[in-house]
Amino acid sequence: MTRREVPLAPVQPATAGDLGSLLVRRRSTRSFGPRPLSLAQLTLMAWAAHGRTADGHRTCPSAHALYPLTLTVVAGNVDGLAAGAYRYDAERHVLILVADGDHRDRVARTTLADHDWLRHAAALLLLSGDMDTATRHFADQPPQGRRGRRYVWLEAGHASQNVYLQATESGLGAVLVAGFDDDRLLGLDPAVVPSGEHPLALLAVGHPADREQ
Ligand SMILES: Cc1cc2nc3c(=O)[nH]c(=O)nc-3n(C[C@H](O)[C@H](O)[C@H](O)COP(=O)(O)O)c2cc1C
Repeated sequence: MTRREVPLAPVQPATAGDLGSLLVRRRSTRSFGPRPLSLAQLTLMAWAAHGRTADGHRTCPSAHALYPLTLTVVAGNVDGLAAGAYRYDAERHVLILVADGDHRDRVARTTLADHDWLRHAAALLLLSGDMDTATRHFADQPPQGRRGRRYVWLEAGHASQNVYLQATESGLGAVLVAGFDDDRLLGLDPAVVPSGEHPLALLAVGHPADREQ
């Protein structure tokens, strides 16, 4: 069969709509300024990740609408929110304090390579997943015993991109840090990663240092 190339018209960001503009502007930010996030900005980030929508679904897709993700907000520099680790209850749209104090530095130290800048992010959003429930739920789908975990990882990717796009829309910076030491992360205060869950992704959010003034 002859191989064919189909030349595509260049995508003009101007015609790609609001989403296209966000996709063009989305970039990973690794330098954060001292300005705090407002609670409203943090709320938007958490909601964007996997918040509930009016029809009872979520902002991110989920196989069988199982919603196996948990979002833990490790807040350190958020106006109107005491430093602490909070579980975001997406159904009730509330933050539940699970560990007092500023855990950003300790979480940052669990990452691989040099992530010293990470502790300067106003908040770290940790996505974890209930792999056992997903594995059981999708036990009849091939490859047996593995499909559920795959779905959870994919869902974490969706939620992460949602955070990136919402951060871009809000004039904030975000970066996905997936390079971390699972065991060290799980060895922190057990409340930071929900017991029995698998850490999937860490997103740093805050005001980019170059846009502080
Ligand atoms: C699965 C995944 C894992 C990543 N892990 C890290 C990480 O551990 N540390 C980091 O600084 N950036 C991490 N990133 C961000 C990438 O380095 C970044 O997306 C890439 O350099 C492209 O830059 P851009 O996002 O600004 O387009 C990760 C991105 C993805 C998709």
